[in-house]
Amino acid sequence: MRLDGGLPTFWRASLRCFPYESFAASPSIPSLVMQLTVSLLPNNSLPPSLVPAQTTAVVVDVLRATSVMATALNHRAARIVTFEAIEEAVAWADEQAQSGERPLLCGERHCQPIAGFDLGNSPSEYPPQRVAGKTLVVTTTNGTRALAAAAGFQHILTASFLNLSAALARVAGAPAVHLICAGTDGHITAEDTLLAGAFASRCVEEHAAQIGNDEARLAVDHWSARCCADLPISSPLIADALLDSQGGRNLARLGMADDVRRCAQVDTHPSVPTVVARQPITLQ
Ligand code: MLT
Repeated sequence: MRLDGGLPTFWRASLRCFPYESFAASPSIPSLVMQLTVSLLPNNSLPPSLVPAQTTAVVVDVLRATSVMATALNHRAARIVTFEAIEEAVAWADEQAQSGERPLLCGERHCQPIAGFDLGNSPSEYPPQRVAGKTLVVTTTNGTRALAAAAGFQHILTASFLNLSAALARVAGAPAVHLICAGTDGHITAEDTLLAGAFASRCVEEHAAQIGNDEARLAVDHWSARCCADLPISSPLIADALLDSQGGRNLARLGMADDVRRCAQVDTHPSVPTVVARQPITLQ
């Protein structure tokens, strides 16, 4: 007889999950089990047992930076180069323009397009006819900052609902995975916590990962409470949860609720923007 019979998938997965203490108490013993940890903000101090140089970082800014990046690469952008400051982005684009084609300047400040830039931060602005073959120079309020915060990690990739399964497949076999949520202006946000919870739950289920800190546990609980009660996972349920988050409310207030619904779609994109160079941070 199966002890887990009849339980939703997430709870079956939880039964396989070791308690946090068993991981935290023995940091020096190499583990064959994937350790899954979360920072709900980029500047949260890292779990003591985590070694960034041996860990894959997954950066999350669901609304909207990492959703836009997945869309742009899915639509065959050549590469994405990110900067924290507008001035740095413009200077680098100017430099590139002198030796060849001018890259597209992309991004936002406080959800609004940046004056003089080619593209804002809506996934709808990144169709193939606009971005295919182009270098995109991106700066956003929180997302590109979170990417910079991941600089010391062994591998760095980005995730969103749009490429959730593809990103999960990319971490298969990694000994340690750390999700870094962008948040908004130093505040934890429900939208990034939701994706972190979905990712962590699926890592437990598909990669037999072990939940490694309380921020990961909180994310899993949030995902479970908002979206996982009735399986299969549905995009409308995710859209409702995203619209009921800080980022979702901000975007809806500015007339961009459609972007939120677009970012709630699951597995529409197979591309996983991955850091391939660090100075400047470049994703392909
Ligand atoms: C950010 O990086 O802060 C976000 O992507 C903001 C936005 O949705 O435009």
